[in-house]
Amino acid sequence: MKISCHKKLALDSRKDAIVIPIYKNIPSLVGIAGREIDDELQKIISAAYFRFDDKELCSFYMELNKKLKKIYLLNLPKEPASGDVYRELGAKLAHTLSADKIGSFSLVALEDIYNEKKDYGYSTSFLEGVLFALYSFDSFKTKPQAQRLEDVEIITTQAKLKAYIDANSAEWLDTFKYVYTARDLVNTPPNVLNPAYFADFVAANCDPKLKVTIWNEEDINKEGLLLVAAVGNGSHNRPRFIKLSYIGEPKEPKNVAIVGKGVTFDSGGSNLKPSASMDTMKADMSGAAAAYAIMNLAAARELPINIHAYIPLVENIIGGNAMRPGDIIKSYSGKTVEVLNTDAEGRLILADALYMATKTSPEIIIDIATLTGAAIIALGDDCAAFFSNRKFLSKQLADISAKVGEAVWELPLFEAYADKIKSKNADLQNRSTLGRSGGTISAALFLREFVENYPWIHLDIAGPAYLERKHPVFGSNATGFGIRLLYQFIKTHYASKA
Ligand code: BES
Ligand code: MN
Ligand code: ZN
Repeated sequence: MKISCHKKLALDSRKDAIVIPIYKNIPSLVGIAGREIDDELQKIISAAYFRFDDKELCSFYMELNKKLKKIYLLNLPKEPASGDVYRELGAKLAHTLSADKIGSFSLVALEDIYNEKKDYGYSTSFLEGVLFALYSFDSFKTKPQAQRLEDVEIITTQAKLKAYIDANSAEWLDTFKYVYTARDLVNTPPNVLNPAYFADFVAANCDPKLKVTIWNEEDINKEGLLLVAAVGNGSHNRPRFIKLSYIGEPKEPKNVAIVGKGVTFDSGGSNLKPSASMDTMKADMSGAAAAYAIMNLAAARELPINIHAYIPLVENIIGGNAMRPGDIIKSYSGKTVEVLNTDAEGRLILADALYMATKTSPEIIIDIATLTGAAIIALGDDCAAFFSNRKFLSKQLADISAKVGEAVWELPLFEAYADKIKSKNADLQNRSTLGRSGGTISAALFLREFVENYPWIHLDIAGPAYLERKHPVFGSNATGFGIRLLYQFIKTHYASKA
C-alpha cells in the first residue's frame, strides 16, 4: 500500500477513482473538488431521488480530462463522530473498492469536508480502517489472490494536513505491515505453526536491530523454566523460548518488558477441551505474535527506548509424557505450583516468562495473552480485559485504547480471591477453588505472584484476538488486537522524548 497527500483539486486526480465524502446540506465543494465535479455532485445530491441515509456509499461515472472516471460519494455523519465511525467507513470503502477492482483512488480529506484545521484524527482513523480491511489470508488457497487496492492519495487544501500525513504515513504502513504478519501467524494452521516453526520464523524475520535469542528444550530445562517444559511435554513438537531485545537507547538503563503467550495449539491437555472449544485454539499464540510485532515495530520506527520481549512457545496436547492434573512443578521463581487443570496452561508458561522479565528491573512489565474463556463471558469478544497493580497505568492504557479503537475494560485484582489459588500441597494451584467463576480474575492473581511487584499490566485478549464473526473493522479470524494498543502505549509513555 502506498499513501500520499497532495494539495490539489479532485478534478486533477490521476487515480482509478475519486472518493468524495459528503453529508446532508454540505456547502459547495468547488474549492477542493473543482468546478466540473462540484456541478455534477450538486445536481445529484439535490435530485429528488437522492437519499443521504440510504447507505454509506454510492457511485457514478463522469468524463474528466477525456477519461471515464468513477466517483464514489461517501456518506459521513454530519457532526464529527468518534474514531471508530471513521475506521468503519474506511473499512467499508476498502471492501467496496476491492470488490470493484479499483487499484488506486484519490480521497478528498475528511478534514476539508469538516473544515477542521487542527485535529487530523479523521484521516488517521479512516486510513486505519482502509488498512485493516485490506488484509486477507490466502497462503493456503490454491486460487491466485485477488487484485489489490494499493495506492491512496489524500487530496487537501491544507498544507499542514499534507505535512502531517507525509510525516506519519511511514509509521502507519510499518504498523500494518506487522499487524498483517501477526495475523498471518495466528491464522496459520497448527499443523504448520508449531513452536519450532514460530521460532524459526522469528529468527528469519526480525528487524536487524533486534537481538534474537532462541532456547530449545534443553536450554529451557537447564535455565529452570520448568513450567514451560511441563506444559510442552505432551507434544512431539517440543517447546521453544524466545527472547527479543531492542536497545534503542544504549546509554539508558531503563527498560520495558513484554511477555506474550505462545500456545501454538491448546487442546486442553489431559483436561481435554470439548470439541467446539478447540476450533479456534490455533489462535492461542496471539499474544506471542503481538509481542513479536510490537518489538519489530519499535525497532523499525527506531523508538528511543529499551524493550525486552519473552515469548514461551508450547503445544498443549495430550501425549504419553504430558503433565497430569495433580503434578507439582517448581517454577522458575522457585514457587511450587500444583497443576489442577492442564487446560489452565497459559498462566503456567507466563509465570516463568514474567519472572524472567523481572530480571532487568523493568519500568513496566506488560503481558498479552489469550488467557481465559471467562474474559469472553464477562466482556464479549469486542473488548479485552486488563489488570494492573498500579492505578495510574489503568488510566493511561484506557486513554490509548480509546485513541486507537481497541477496546479494553479493567477488572479488579480482587484480594478476596487471592487465597483461592493457594494450594494445599504446593505454594500455588493453577485453578481457583471457585472453579470457573471469576476465572479471569483468578488467572490474573496467579500471574501477579510472579511479577515481584514491578509495575505490571496484564491484557487478556481471549475475546478480541480471534473472531469467528465478522467485525466491521477487524474482519474475521485473527485481528492483530493489542499490537497498535501496546505499541502506542509504550511509545507514548516510555520512549524518551527526543
Ligand atoms: N486458551 C484458553 C483460553 C481461551 C478460551 C482463549 C477461549 C480464547 C478463547 C486457556 O488456556 C484456557 O483453556 N483457560 C481455561 C482456564 C480454566 C481451565 C481454569 C478456561 O478459560 O476455561
Ligand atoms: Mn487452556
Ligand atoms: Zn490456552
